[in-house]
Amino acid sequence: MNKNFIDINNFNKKQIDEIISIAKKIKKNPNKFSTIFKNKTLGLIFEKQSLRTRLSFNVGMQKLGGNVVELNSKDIGFDNKREAPKDVLNVLAQFIDCLMIRNNNHKQLLDLAKLNVIPIINGLSEYSHPCQILGDFLTIQEKLNDIKNIQLTWIGDFNNVLISLLHLQNIYLFKLNVVIPEKIIKLNQKELKKYNNKKLKLLSDPIIGSKKSKCIMTDVWISMGDKNKNKVKYFKNFTVDKKIINSASKDVIFMHCLPAKRGQEVTSEVLDGKKSVVLHQAKNRMFIQQAILIYVLKK
Ligand code: CP
Ligand code: NVA
Repeated sequence: MNKNFIDINNFNKKQIDEIISIAKKIKKNPNKFSTIFKNKTLGLIFEKQSLRTRLSFNVGMQKLGGNVVELNSKDIGFDNKREAPKDVLNVLAQFIDCLMIRNNNHKQLLDLAKLNVIPIINGLSEYSHPCQILGDFLTIQEKLNDIKNIQLTWIGDFNNVLISLLHLQNIYLFKLNVVIPEKIIKLNQKELKKYNNKKLKLLSDPIIGSKKSKCIMTDVWISMGDKNKNKVKYFKNFTVDKKIINSASKDVIFMHCLPAKRGQEVTSEVLDGKKSVVLHQAKNRMFIQQAILIYVLKK
């Protein structure tokens, strides 16, 4: 069976620890890994925009001695019109060793992974963004050390990044306040019910939710491909600003996967401020992508 990287909840703590540990090793000693993927090629498909994921996979693979080819899914015909996706994948496997896909169709990722032709990596879908949250986990460990006893807070939408964060929380059981507007909670009640443990709290007040928090995390209110643009109106008081940061722990860090809508989910003051670790976060994406690639490709 191929190893895939579709969702964090497909892995156990030992496996996630292993990926994080590989990322730390590469970060510490990149030269040691510079030829590990000689003669290996990674395919990238982006059906939605990307800056960080595109660059971190592309540059990350090259720094491991490998090659990258970016494919346009419409051109190669993943839409089942010209040929079956299985046939496309079987042909791709003659040329590339692994395929990362960003799309708006999580089921397609699962279906392609099931075919067991080459490893499939989820580079963000409408459902989840596991590469992001593993990169963030590395950042949290570097910045805050003791993940077990700290309070994290998510303030914002119920979206793909949050789902991956919930998957991670369910494994590591750190304290997590999830602060979502009441209306958004109602809209996603069925999905939210799946996440239930003592360390997880669901709230609707950003000030209460950020109390004593060591890490405030947010993301855009309207994700790529989200058709419900009207929901912006539910996020009154949800802009992460100085007031919210001040109600958190003194040494709080502010995290955002980026891209950010300045003035909407976060003020420029916070995004550019001293507590913000967003660029550290963006850079860590590369070490995590490299570790994921090693994890799925190494026998
Ligand atoms: N955070 C993130 O995935 O950024 P991109 O959408 O630019 O890849
Ligand atoms: N939730 C955002 C994340 C972007 C990296 C989106 O899906 O647009």
